[in-house]
Amino acid sequence: MCGIVAYIGSNPAVPLLLEGLKRMEYRGYDSAGVAVLNGELQVVKTVGRVSVLEDRLQEKPPEGSVGIGHTRWATHGDTTERNAHPHTDDRNGIAIIHNGTIENYASLKTALQERGHKFDSETDTEVIAMLISEFYDGDLEKAVQAALREVRGAYAIAVLCENEPDTLVVARKGSPLIIGVGASEFVVASDPTAIVAHTTQAFELDDYQVCKLTREGFRTSTLDDVSVTPKIQQLELDLEQIELGSYDTFMMKEIFEQPRSLSTTMRGRLDKRDGKVVLGGIGPYARELVRARQFLMTGQGTAYHAALIGEYLLEDLAKIPAKTEYASEFRYRNPIIVDGTVIVAVSQSGETADTLAALREASDRGALSIGVVNVVGSSIARETDAGVYLRVGPEIGVASTKAFTGQVLTLMMLSLFMARRKFMSVDTCQHLIEELDQVPSYIERILESDDQIRTVTEKYVNQENWLFLGRGYNYPVALEGALKLKEISYIHAEGMPAAEMKHGPIALITDGMPVVFIANQGPQYDKVMLNIEQVKSRGGRIIAVATEGDTEIRKHADDVFFVPPISDPLSPLLTVIPLQLLACHAAMLRGHDVDKPRNLAKSVTVE
Ligand code: AGP
Ligand code: GLU
Repeated sequence: MCGIVAYIGSNPAVPLLLEGLKRMEYRGYDSAGVAVLNGELQVVKTVGRVSVLEDRLQEKPPEGSVGIGHTRWATHGDTTERNAHPHTDDRNGIAIIHNGTIENYASLKTALQERGHKFDSETDTEVIAMLISEFYDGDLEKAVQAALREVRGAYAIAVLCENEPDTLVVARKGSPLIIGVGASEFVVASDPTAIVAHTTQAFELDDYQVCKLTREGFRTSTLDDVSVTPKIQQLELDLEQIELGSYDTFMMKEIFEQPRSLSTTMRGRLDKRDGKVVLGGIGPYARELVRARQFLMTGQGTAYHAALIGEYLLEDLAKIPAKTEYASEFRYRNPIIVDGTVIVAVSQSGETADTLAALREASDRGALSIGVVNVVGSSIARETDAGVYLRVGPEIGVASTKAFTGQVLTLMMLSLFMARRKFMSVDTCQHLIEELDQVPSYIERILESDDQIRTVTEKYVNQENWLFLGRGYNYPVALEGALKLKEISYIHAEGMPAAEMKHGPIALITDGMPVVFIANQGPQYDKVMLNIEQVKSRGGRIIAVATEGDTEIRKHADDVFFVPPISDPLSPLLTVIPLQLLACHAAMLRGHDVDKPRNLAKSVTVE
């Protein structure tokens, strides 16, 4: 979802801008560009990968120690060089890069054209450049403030002006922007991965804030030019976490990281002795949460699947009414929020536009809001009343893996936190905590079967249509397995409740079609076996995720991925692992770029 990087200091800007854009490639984009100020603006932009931009820059590297760089994920205007960022104005030597969408750009563009401005691109971003230019009278900071008072929508921007060669102005509303503070230099970016190689001291802008940066210092203000003092914090990130190491892809690295990442998620939060869960981020709201009348779970994509498991956990373990909705649907359907509602926003990035909007909608209607988020200090983390961080470390692979299991584990801990304040006994909770303690070693055991999973994947990798079927806690895992396969291997896959298959989709079953069943030894095992027979009798090929020691399954399935036995509510942490590996191998066998799948963005910060 687009990457912004900007630099002002004493080093050459271009190498740093390129390095920052490369570190943010995982966010997804379709074109890239830089602008460097050295007396005059030098703008270079290309369609395609950052490497294409790098090759173009080799021809005649722009010199200068203040610059801006951008990877674009098009929202307004096709993927062309003209529409790539940076965009410039037509009068005052202004250049801008932008992450987000300007909702009222059309009316603004018409008015600007009527006042004689000549536009070059189809984008909404160019409108901001022209507005700044109109307000510019020798003070770039003021011109940016004035222009942003006119726009509606989401933005993270960085702006340069030829008349102010020692100034960089940045601003945000709705899209992420972090400012790294170095010695007489600043590195600005969409996320910390582009900053941490230069400094670990950084601060975030809040919505409707502007920051003027020079080599001597910075000033942060509101759009009405009221000074504000940001809080500079230590970035909790190190380079090792964002580099590939010995792995071929970030996705494979992050799948294999899960024993470690989940250990970190649990660390200090499970009190086995007293049989309870300690979640500091929501502790102050415990009494309000216990009195909650219903939990509203929301998210998009993989986060939605985790949220759905959270719904099952809250009702099953804590006996609290819960329901799950796609954030994009919830935000627009005029939802009824009864007193005592708690909304749980699930998000790896903490920046997903629809999830943030749904959270705001529910909060405005009186709901208490809880964030289940990975990125510290992200918009959702900052806007919720309370929350629990996943602590799985940065997730670079576009296809979410360790964040999914981190979300599910965190929702398990939230459910136990609530259950022990409702009807769950110490013994029951102690037993579940003992099982959770084993999860990292259980996942290690599953990862040992990676070669077998790859071999099975090879058998079916040329099949263009798959079904993923599960029941109960593993119905959302079926949804997640299907999403993983389709988003990185581009194979069409559909997940659904196993019983639902009989209500239409069974017509899809053709001879040799792979159908993945999650057939762990849970309460509906026998029902799943019936569904397996229904598929098998129509020629489908059965790939089953089953429980170690199950001697029946091999009589029915063509291929089996075994996972260790565990209580059904905790089983998604294990049953999803073979499906993550299956998807990753399918994509690699089909020769796709696993970490940068076509059309996808790591964080969808626009609608
Ligand atoms: C999952 O593999 C996808 N990358 C996507 O569905 C993602 O889960 C979704 O966009 C939500 O992102 P978030 O968790 O950052 O809010
Ligand atoms: N809306 C802008 C455009 O389409 C920016 C998109 C982005 O965030 O990359 O160019």
